Amino acid sequence: MRIDILTLFPGMFLGPLQESILKRAQQRGLLTLWIHQIRDYALDRHQSTDDVPYGGGQGMLMKPEPLFRAVRTILPELNAPVILLTPQGRTFSHTVAQELAGHDRLVLLCGHYEGVDERVRQHLVTDELSIGDYVLTGGELAAMVVVDAVARFIPGVLGAEQGAYEDSFAGGLLEGPQYTRPPDFEGWGVPDVVRSGNHAAVAQWRRATALRRTMERRPELLLSTTLQEEARASVTQFQQSSDGLSEPDET
Ligand code: ADE
Repeated sequence: MRIDILTLFPGMFLGPLQESILKRAQQRGLLTLWIHQIRDYALDRHQSTDDVPYGGGQGMLMKPEPLFRAVRTILPELNAPVILLTPQGRTFSHTVAQELAGHDRLVLLCGHYEGVDERVRQHLVTDELSIGDYVLTGGELAAMVVVDAVARFIPGVLGAEQGAYEDSFAGGLLEGPQYTRPPDFEGWGVPDVVRSGNHAAVAQWRRATALRRTMERRPELLLSTTLQEEARASVTQFQQSSDGLSEPDET
């Protein structure tokens, strides 16, 4: 997959996208990232990319010409999603990441200043995404979040192919608790069941703890009534159990 990012601050992308899993994905040719300086596509002598809003008002707006020129140069056939990162966009999620990973190419446009000229929204971008209800200083960090979350869905990017599908949100549930060695850390133990070697019991415990955690933290994720009932049943089971199904005290 190829992702082109248009930004006024290419330097912001130097660190985060060149470490760990994203670094390996690029080395293995699974992901190609192109970072473009929008200013390079400005035609005037000062290479200006912003201007004052018509009608007055605070702040500056991103001008349309450099953005149209950049996208038309980078993606002449305009045959891939062109996504503006903006707090006004639809909310980015696990599902949106999965959907975007189905494309061969993406173009991410990082908004700045007080926003972009409306004609960019109307006639250039095909989608607008927000990573949450807060305002960042620009779309760059949001673009990095999108790249990271989308890359995890590219086949082969995660070590274990299943990884992206077993995490929190896959299947609509948050992931439950997990443990590693030592079995006793400063007096805090590990539930017997996870050390039992009984795979069926472990799977059942994982499902039950995932349901419980989702119900406690994000009940709105339990969309179907079947899931809600299953979650309620597992919470009751936890409350009643004194066997290995319960988690150690979380405090
Ligand atoms: N630019 C500024 N804030 C943003 C947000 N929350 N999501 C995406 N792009 C942004």
